[in-house]
Amino acid sequence: MSSYQVRKTPGDTAWFRHDRFGMFIHWGLYALPARHEWVKTREKITDEDYDRYFRHFDPDLFDAHEWARQAKAAGMKYAVLTTKHHEGFCMFDSKYTDYKCTNTPAGRDLVREYVDAFRAEGLKVGFYYSLIDWHHPDFPIDPIHPRRDDDNVQELNKGRDMHRYAEYMRNQVTELLTNYGKIDIMWFDFSYPDNNPPDKPWLKGKGKDDWEAEELIALTRRLQPDIIIDNRTGIEQDLWTPEQYQPQSWLRDKNGELVTWEACQTFSGSWGYYRDETSWKSPEMLIQMLIQTVSLGGNLLMNVGPTARGCFDYRAQNALQVYADWMKFNSRSIYGCTMAEPEFSAPNGCRLTQSEDGKRLYVHLFQYPYAFLELPGFGGKVEYAQFLHDASEIQFTENQSDHFSEGRTEGEGLLVLNLPVIKPPVVVPVIELFFRNL
Ligand code: GLC
Repeated sequence: MSSYQVRKTPGDTAWFRHDRFGMFIHWGLYALPARHEWVKTREKITDEDYDRYFRHFDPDLFDAHEWARQAKAAGMKYAVLTTKHHEGFCMFDSKYTDYKCTNTPAGRDLVREYVDAFRAEGLKVGFYYSLIDWHHPDFPIDPIHPRRDDDNVQELNKGRDMHRYAEYMRNQVTELLTNYGKIDIMWFDFSYPDNNPPDKPWLKGKGKDDWEAEELIALTRRLQPDIIIDNRTGIEQDLWTPEQYQPQSWLRDKNGELVTWEACQTFSGSWGYYRDETSWKSPEMLIQMLIQTVSLGGNLLMNVGPTARGCFDYRAQNALQVYADWMKFNSRSIYGCTMAEPEFSAPNGCRLTQSEDGKRLYVHLFQYPYAFLELPGFGGKVEYAQFLHDASEIQFTENQSDHFSEGRTEGEGLLVLNLPVIKPPVVVPVIELFFRNL
């Protein structure tokens, strides 16, 4: 058994830590301008101008089953969809606003279709819900709001009532967590209480007290007792969520306890569909990110930003295909795996994962070595070794390896794997080591 003890939290994250890989989906009106999901505030667009996207939101090619099939083929086990992003537009049929997809040419409840389709494919279902709302009339203008630089902010903020807005959120969260069956993850986003520009004292960041986060969380747990909640209300819950950042070690809380963490990453730097973005990650980066994450006991939530027609564009499909091709043969080193026990250290250019039961260890070859791989400390422990993608045997020697020079490489506990000279045609080849029953 893995010796790593993960900190207990109110929600049970065992299934989550087993599944390791999920799909984030950022979809909303911002898919139309197609230049970042923050476009409304980056370009300080007025409500009136932004309305053109509402009038033209017509995802006629949207097929949630197709999305779910692609997620599943990529090896993803759960998904998290933006039910509302910072722009305030609701992808579900809420009683509490007219600013929702059913009032656009889309004319349907998109969250419902997502939930039904993903569940039908056997994936777990999560909701992202933005705490920030750049459309709601009660949401006070703050340092990241599209109206922040208007001359009359103080005037505009008069009468905006954060308490009423917090109630609006509770009402919507109640809808989301009662009308769509079992929901596995709630992903609130995000808090910025320290963003208080000194030159504009009337602009104040927002945090847990503004969201009335304690109540929001209690409500969430009451409605869905088995749910997992992220930490971005400003109150630590089940999940830590490093964003566009790959931690270099297993994250720990302030008491030094290991936490359940999930890196969220993009294919290309933006979360919403961004037509002209060019920084798409290479196949190697995509696969290495997933392995690197699991090798440090974490999960990866990889994002897709569908187009306003309702499709994954060709670049996103290619990226998903990279995962599909690799996961088809190598997922055994991901699901139910975690950081290798401390007694095993990775050789140069490699990352290790180990099955939770401790019986199998996976060596991921980020850099393909020449025909031998030395693994100090593994000698005497391995019963059988193979490539994971084709289950072809990898022969090995222990404690020593002859190379007809003055001496030979030797060492107590040394394991030397004898690899093919040429790298197999796999983005990252994986060696599966079966331990002896000691
Ligand atoms: C953020 C951003 C955002 C994105 C997200 C995903 O902090 O505001 O647009 O939805 O986090 O992690």
